[in-house]
Amino acid sequence: MDIHKNKIVLCFIFVALLNFTACKEKDEIVVQHQFDNLNLPTEPFNYSDIDFPNHFSSSNLAGIPINSTLATDNTPNDNQITDAGATLGRVLFYDKLLSKNSTVSCASCHAQEKGFSDARILSKGFDSGETRRHSMGLVNARFYQKGTFFWDERAATLEEQVLMPIQDEVEMGLTLDTLITRIEQTDYYKPLFKDAFGDETITNDRISKALAQFVRSLVSYQSKYDIGRASVNRATEPFENFSAQENLGKTLFLEGVPLGGLGCTVCHGTEAFTTPPRSANNGLDAASTTDLGVYESTGNPADIGKFKSPSLRNIALRAPYMHDGRFATLEEVIEHYNSGIQAHPNLDRILTDANGNPIRMNLTEEEKDALVAFLNTLTDTEMIEDEKFSNPFK
Ligand code: HEC
Ligand code: HEC
Repeated sequence: MDIHKNKIVLCFIFVALLNFTACKEKDEIVVQHQFDNLNLPTEPFNYSDIDFPNHFSSSNLAGIPINSTLATDNTPNDNQITDAGATLGRVLFYDKLLSKNSTVSCASCHAQEKGFSDARILSKGFDSGETRRHSMGLVNARFYQKGTFFWDERAATLEEQVLMPIQDEVEMGLTLDTLITRIEQTDYYKPLFKDAFGDETITNDRISKALAQFVRSLVSYQSKYDIGRASVNRATEPFENFSAQENLGKTLFLEGVPLGGLGCTVCHGTEAFTTPPRSANNGLDAASTTDLGVYESTGNPADIGKFKSPSLRNIALRAPYMHDGRFATLEEVIEHYNSGIQAHPNLDRILTDANGNPIRMNLTEEEKDALVAFLNTLTDTEMIEDEKFSNPFK
């Protein structure tokens, strides 16, 4: 018996020693290179090991069983987030070298303080040309289960998407060959690639992977909503930290019509407040004329006028709203759902009444204000001020 105990103790010491050496080795690896023009921490920020609150692994939002938010993660096996990979992605995201005349970076149209969107209705590219649609907020893009990107979902993966703005004639205007040459000639990139991928080789695949890692690391889980959500079992129970108005807005947003709600979660669901299964037509126009939405990438007439609904987290910071930026305020968005839904042939059935006509919600002023107050609780100041997502260039 005693001998056995000794063995266990020895084993513990051995494991402890091993861990100690492993930790020491890790410490040595994680010291980052320093550059004159870049403000990077000596130890990389933590992007890879996020302590998501319990409700991200719960499969119960409003009492209906749904996929847990973590189960909707679209990260592919061959591009898991690492701290060094996301650090490289962060530098690329803020680097104006990625545009033809070095005037525009990804962040020019995806600003941290704007929930990684743009205050302009249409964004300006490197040559002052305007983008066709309104910029999208990138928050919780990782939890869009379908894994497709853009308002019309034309990019099949995030890895594919991130190289598209670089080559877009209006946005950044570079060819992938010029991109590689530029990055190869820039002294701070070689060590960053080595840290991220083990050697200094610069390829489009690695650029795409690093950018995608940074975009996937833009997660919001520390808003007022999350603090309240952590204190209850089901999101539909009243939150202690919410005012009566915010709790009313929450009920209206989360619950289905039979329970006195509006069913917003059907299309803005999970704890990431994004669409788990599909794009939709939310009745902005009676007919699609200039922008046919998802149809443009699928060619399926049932997709005419359908658009992706991005995560509503940090939505209060992301005005103007919708794919064409037509609404300047959240009040206007709510008024659209309340009284403005149009009878588009592909209007989602959830937004029609028993006769197939667009629903009229007939909300009171108090209810409209409550919905806006609730949407405001999705603002995550921690994330918006987090240095690890900010511009690293001095
Ligand atoms: C000139 C402005 C501009 C620049 C520069 C720009 N974007 Fe965008 N971004 C947009 C617009 C506009 C859209 C929506 C376009 C559409 O859907 O047709 C968009 C959409 C996206 C999306 C899709 C989000 C979603 O939920 O589907 C991602 C991801 C993205 N951009 C990342 C990037 C990255 C990474 C870069 C830099 C390599 C970048 N963008 C550079 C304007 C810009
Ligand atoms: C049938 C699905 C559906 C329902 C139900 C729905 N939405 Fe939407 N929502 C969408 C789609 C799709 C978009 C993007 C539409 C576009 O830009 O063309 C959107 C966009 C939004 C936006 C703007 C997002 C942005 O980034 O600009 C807000 C805010 C919003 N919805 C709030 C709500 C609220 C509040 C409710 C409940 C009253 C609701 N939605 C119900 C599908 C839906």
